[in-house]
Amino acid sequence: MSGLIQPHGGKLVNRVVDAGRAAELTKEAATLPRINLTAKQSCDLELIANGGYSPLEGFMGSDDFRSVCTSMKLANGQVWSIPILLSVAKEQVPAIGSRVALYAPNGVLQGVMTVKESFLHDKKLEIPNVFRTEDSAHPGVAQVQAEGDHCLAGPVEALTLCVDPNGPEAFMSQRLTPAQVRAEFEKRGWKTVVAFQTRNPIHRAHEYVCKCAQELCDGLLIHPLVGETKKGDITASVRMQAIDALVQKYFNPATTMVSVLPAAMRYAGPREAIHHAVMRKNYGCSHFIVGRDHAGVGTYYGTYDAQKIFDEIDLIGFGMGIMKFEHTGYSKSYGGMVSGKSFPKIEGDIINLSGTAVRDLLFKGERPPAEFSRPEVADVLIAAAKRGDLFVG
Ligand code: ADX
Repeated sequence: MSGLIQPHGGKLVNRVVDAGRAAELTKEAATLPRINLTAKQSCDLELIANGGYSPLEGFMGSDDFRSVCTSMKLANGQVWSIPILLSVAKEQVPAIGSRVALYAPNGVLQGVMTVKESFLHDKKLEIPNVFRTEDSAHPGVAQVQAEGDHCLAGPVEALTLCVDPNGPEAFMSQRLTPAQVRAEFEKRGWKTVVAFQTRNPIHRAHEYVCKCAQELCDGLLIHPLVGETKKGDITASVRMQAIDALVQKYFNPATTMVSVLPAAMRYAGPREAIHHAVMRKNYGCSHFIVGRDHAGVGTYYGTYDAQKIFDEIDLIGFGMGIMKFEHTGYSKSYGGMVSGKSFPKIEGDIINLSGTAVRDLLFKGERPPAEFSRPEVADVLIAAAKRGDLFVG
């Protein structure tokens, strides 16, 4: 038996079919009702298929949905914090027992599903529980509000893992499945691995928390999320260029691995921190980093809400170690990276740039200070700003 942490629920799910079955499904799909997945649903289907969402074998039914919303658990009692739904318009609800063909946003047939249940999408239950707000200005809330009012549940068979392997954000050499990541950890002899989630280029604060965490585990998995993100976030391809440039120069390849997570962001802060941890458990990571305002957006969540929420779950049963970091930054008086925990707070001591200040510098072709961003990272971002492809449009 592997020395790595067990997948969530004990067994790594695999819903990707072999070539023979894929040919049968392609033929069958031509006769089935067509459902066009949103980018978020397409990301969810990939993670169901590759086992990142183990123990889910398909989109959630109403029992799981209600239980996740109200108590952050699947109906069987396992920790789960974010609903994974296939919501559709009323006209698309088929007879129970029938099959539907699921197409990715680019038109590729991604999977076939047997519909076991249909139920009303109770957004009044989902939105305040998951996002702790009903404000339509919150990108995750707005997304759920725009989704269909009916949900289809049932097991899926996936024909492909990546629907656009040649696309600019496919990163095929780094788009490893949980089984592949686990195999790589075993090859390297790692038993304890800490995962770092990010949807940004890695700045000095990110780098610092990674290094601190890395000291305590056999390995570090830098695991950027490359699925759907909101308008105004930095594109995944630019982030990956920046991360690759940084890791090459400042990390030890013997103890560091970079792979991508094909998940969509919800910006659900605390609830999403648990969701991010569950996925990393499936990828074989024993530990997970949660810093300040993890998966947050705007001012919807308190700085440490995403850490405090882990007090609400049975962490021993969950099995992962959560590494919580205070807000860190470069201290001028200390001459290095610190947090309020490791060095006393002094007014104006920490070099802290707002997102807007960083953008302004990049668009002027100027590097943010080296204490904030490594020059190699800044160069990648400045080049992207010049080309006009820095942000998701
Ligand atoms: S996130 O949406 O993926 O959480 P981001 O890429 O900014 O956004 O953060 C990645 C991880 O680094 C999160 O765990 C976040 O809490 C942590 N983090 C970001 N900035 C800091 C900081 N200055 N100090 C401590 N932790 C941080």
